Amino acid sequence: MQKIRIPETMTVAVLNDYSGVDAISIEQRPVPTPGRNEVLVKVAFAPINPSDLATLEGNYGFNDPTPIVPGGEGSGEVIAAGPGVMARYFLGKRVACTGWGTGGGVWSEYVVKSVKGGVLSLNKSLSLEQGAMSFINPLTASAFIDISKKGGHKAIVLTAAASSLGQKVNRLGRNEGIQIVNVVRRDAQVELLKAQGADIVLNSSNEGFQQQLYDVCNQTNAHLAFDAVAGPLTNQLLQAMPQNSKVTVFSALSRQAIQASPGVLIFENKSIDSFWLGPWISEQGIFKTMQLWKRAQKQIATHLKSDIRKIYPLQDVKEAIRDYKNQMTGGKILLRMS
Ligand SMILES: NC(=O)c1ccc[n+]([C@@H]2O[C@H](COP(=O)([O-])OP(=O)(O)OC[C@H]3O[C@@H](n4cnc5c(N)ncnc54)[C@H](OP(=O)(O)O)[C@@H]3O)[C@@H](O)[C@H]2O)c1
Repeated sequence: MQKIRIPETMTVAVLNDYSGVDAISIEQRPVPTPGRNEVLVKVAFAPINPSDLATLEGNYGFNDPTPIVPGGEGSGEVIAAGPGVMARYFLGKRVACTGWGTGGGVWSEYVVKSVKGGVLSLNKSLSLEQGAMSFINPLTASAFIDISKKGGHKAIVLTAAASSLGQKVNRLGRNEGIQIVNVVRRDAQVELLKAQGADIVLNSSNEGFQQQLYDVCNQTNAHLAFDAVAGPLTNQLLQAMPQNSKVTVFSALSRQAIQASPGVLIFENKSIDSFWLGPWISEQGIFKTMQLWKRAQKQIATHLKSDIRKIYPLQDVKEAIRDYKNQMTGGKILLRMS
C-alpha cells in the first residue's frame, strides 16, 4: 500500500447541543490515533439520513452528552491501523463505517473505528458513494423481507414507501414474490413508485384512503405492516388489516405518538411492535450478519442501489441538511469529506 501522509488536524462537523441544524459548527480538531483493534478511516462520503435529523434534535436512540460529531454511516479508506491482526487486515481497504460506538459519528475527514463492528469491507465493484449508503437502508430492507418470509407473509404494507428504503423494499419484494402495499402521502410519490413497477400505491392524503386500504389489505391478505410514520396512520393500518395482524413501527416521521384503538388490540388480536436495525443485527449473531452483509453488497448494484440527488462538501453541511429537509424524496444528499 502506498504510504499516505496523515495530517495533524482535520475538519469536523460538531453538534454543540440538541437544538437542530443551527447548533452545528465546523471545527478543526487533531486527527485521532487508532488504538488496539482500531483503524483510522479517511472518510470519503456520508449520507444524511432521517436518523441523522432525529439525532440533531436529541430524538434518536443515542443521546451522548454534547458536543458530538453526527453522522450514522459513511465510506472511506483505512489509512492507519493500531495493534492487532484484524486492524492490520483492514489496512488499505475501502470500507463502510458506522457512526455507532468507538469514534462516534462520521461527519468528519478522519475517524477512528473499532474493527469489531465499526468497519466492514466494501465490494471492489462498489463506488465510495454507494458504499457510504450500503449499511443502514440496505440491511433494513433485507431485514424486512427476511422477517416477512420467515413469517410466511405473501403481502406486506409499507408506509413512507417512496423513501430510499421503501424503493429497496419494493425491488426486493418483487424479486422474492412478496406483494408490497405501498402507502405514500403525495400523488408525485404514487407516480414515482408506479414508474418503478409497483402495482399497489395508495395516497394517505386522498379522501377514501381508509376504505381503499381496508379493501386492499383484505384482498391481498396483508397481516404485517412496516410503519415509518406513526401517529394516526398506525391506527389506520391496524383498522384496515385483517384480524391477527401486526404493525411494526420502525420510525416516527410524523413526530407523533403511535395511536391505536383499544378495540382492535383487544377484540381483533392485532398488535404493535418495533424494529431497530442495531439490536436486530446483534440478535442475528456474527455469522448471519456477515452473510447478510455479503448478500447486500452484491445487491447494491441492482435491488439495493440508492439514488443520489446532490453532493455537498462537509463545510456546507447546514445547507445540505436544509436542502434534504425540504425534499426528502428523490435521492439522497451526500456529504463529501475532502
Ligand atoms: N428503525 C430502523 O432501524 C431504521 C433503519 C433504516 C431506516 N429507518 C427509517 O426509514 C425511513 C426511511 O428512511 P430513508 O433513508 O429511506 O428516507 P428518505 O429516503 O430520506 O425518505 C424519507 C421519506 O419519508 C417521507 N416522509 C417524511 N415525513 C413524512 C411524514 N410525516 N409522513 C409520511 N411520509 C413522510 C418523505 O416524503 P416527503 O418527500 O413527502 O417529505 C420521504 O419519501 C425513515 O423514517 C428512517 O428513519 C429506520
